[in-house]
Amino acid sequence: MVMYHKHKHVMVKSVILILLMGLAFSLFLSNSTEYSPEIGTPFPEKSLDSEQPISVPDDEDQDEIPLPKKAVPSEPPISAEEDQDQNKPLNKGKCDLFVGDWIPNTSGPIYNESCPSIESPQNCMKNGRPDTGFLYWRWSPRDCSIPRFEPERFLEMMRNKHWALIGDSITRNHVQSLLCMLSTVERAIQVYHDKEYRSRRWHFPSYKFTISVIWSPFLVKAAIYEDQNGVSTHEVELYLDKIDDKWIDQIQSFDYMIISTGKWFLKSAIYYENNEALGCHYCPRRNLTELGFDFAYRKTLRYVMNTLVASDHKGMIFFRTSTPDHFENGEWNTGGTCKKTSPVKEGEIELKEVHKVLREIELEEFEKAAAKASRNGVNLKLLDMVSLSLMRPDGHPGPYRQYHPFEHSKYAKVQTDCLHWCLPGPIDSWNDILMEMVVHG
Ligand SMILES: *[C@@H]1O[C@H](CO)[C@@H](O)[C@H](O)[C@H]1NC(C)=O
Ligand SMILES: *[C@@H]1O[C@H](CO)[C@@H](O)[C@H](O)[C@H]1NC(C)=O
Ligand SMILES: *[C@@H]1O[C@H](CO)[C@@H](O)[C@H](O)[C@H]1NC(C)=O
Ligand SMILES: *[C@@H]1O[C@H](CO)[C@@H](O)[C@H](O)[C@H]1NC(C)=O
Repeated sequence: MVMYHKHKHVMVKSVILILLMGLAFSLFLSNSTEYSPEIGTPFPEKSLDSEQPISVPDDEDQDEIPLPKKAVPSEPPISAEEDQDQNKPLNKGKCDLFVGDWIPNTSGPIYNESCPSIESPQNCMKNGRPDTGFLYWRWSPRDCSIPRFEPERFLEMMRNKHWALIGDSITRNHVQSLLCMLSTVERAIQVYHDKEYRSRRWHFPSYKFTISVIWSPFLVKAAIYEDQNGVSTHEVELYLDKIDDKWIDQIQSFDYMIISTGKWFLKSAIYYENNEALGCHYCPRRNLTELGFDFAYRKTLRYVMNTLVASDHKGMIFFRTSTPDHFENGEWNTGGTCKKTSPVKEGEIELKEVHKVLREIELEEFEKAAAKASRNGVNLKLLDMVSLSLMRPDGHPGPYRQYHPFEHSKYAKVQTDCLHWCLPGPIDSWNDILMEMVVHG
């Protein structure tokens, strides 16, 4: 009964979302703008940096449904005190690394804007972001302390190993952070890139360590009809029973994998199973049943995780939850901004409705898969970056995804990015957590 009710609730929400999206769509399409004329791709860009010719981030956010204030399930937020970290027990067995606080720390990031792995839209400092306070915070789990990422130790541990980070542009954002940290020890050598520099591979020769980033925004097979500017001519065709062969064929060569997906599922799409159209999400021009993005998201996660669980993979597989954006007073295409310059406390910012839907499905499907994984001896772990990300509205490029956006005019109209993360920035803490999990997991 509860399940049914919940399901219905999601369906109703989906319908509301679809209506809102339809509205956004029609307004957006009826006028050509200097930005993307397609709701699916918020930040099409011609990269300023010739070394990274293209980077077309994904992801968008269409809804803005106000939500009732939810009680924070844990203890009241602890005030940020500098020495808090030192007094904590080291009972790592019980510690939830994803529940915690951002505490001030004067030591700052271990790399800076000169790291060559940073793609221009994330290089906030080079692009002229005026404030630097956002660099001086560390993620601190509430019940234990974790050390900072130690690049040399990490590389030493990862001799002859291969990591693969598989997903969308947030995954690319993460790989840049990891490369910058590791590059303080040894410069990474790029050994492969696809035509659009979306999938790439690097070697650290002294350690025979390899990192791959694989562009697979849906994880399953998808035909995407978008040009370089993010203009799409056709709905995405999504095959819910076929995993993207860009990565699945290689899994036995990866010792560690981080998979994630998320907001690409909000795009208008036709869903296939057994090569037959099952229905769609937002396809008013077609005679197909609207199934809602939540339908495809759940099916995809279940199929991908079940495949991994049955794969006999001997390494470590992380499933990372999708991360929220912080557009305020509008969305990416309607003048939304993110002007905060410091973190907020837990519970101060509410997760937006779409993120709640995605997250609920992610956690439910992960739990089911994890139970099977432990029976099969597959090491499947959750990387739940939602709470720590939600508390960092200050960590996004905002207008500083462009080079000195206000150089010529204080009032320049610029595209704002409140979804990806500045580098250096809060996403660097993901590596502290990963290191902890690798060392103790
Ligand atoms: C399109 O843009 C023009 C001027 O920029 C504006 O006057 C008009 O209302 C817009 N039309 C729609 C449908 O938004
Ligand atoms: C900052 O973080 C580092 C690394 O965890 C720690 O050793 C140091 O004590 C922290 N500094 C302050 C002032 O909290
Ligand atoms: C950035 O780091 C590099 C290498 O550690 C250093 O040589 C350089 O001076 C730093 N640049 C800035 C702007 O801090
Ligand atoms: C739409 O699909 C339904 C069910 O398959 C079919 O009965 C109907 O004729 C179709 N309408 C059009 C316009 O193709």
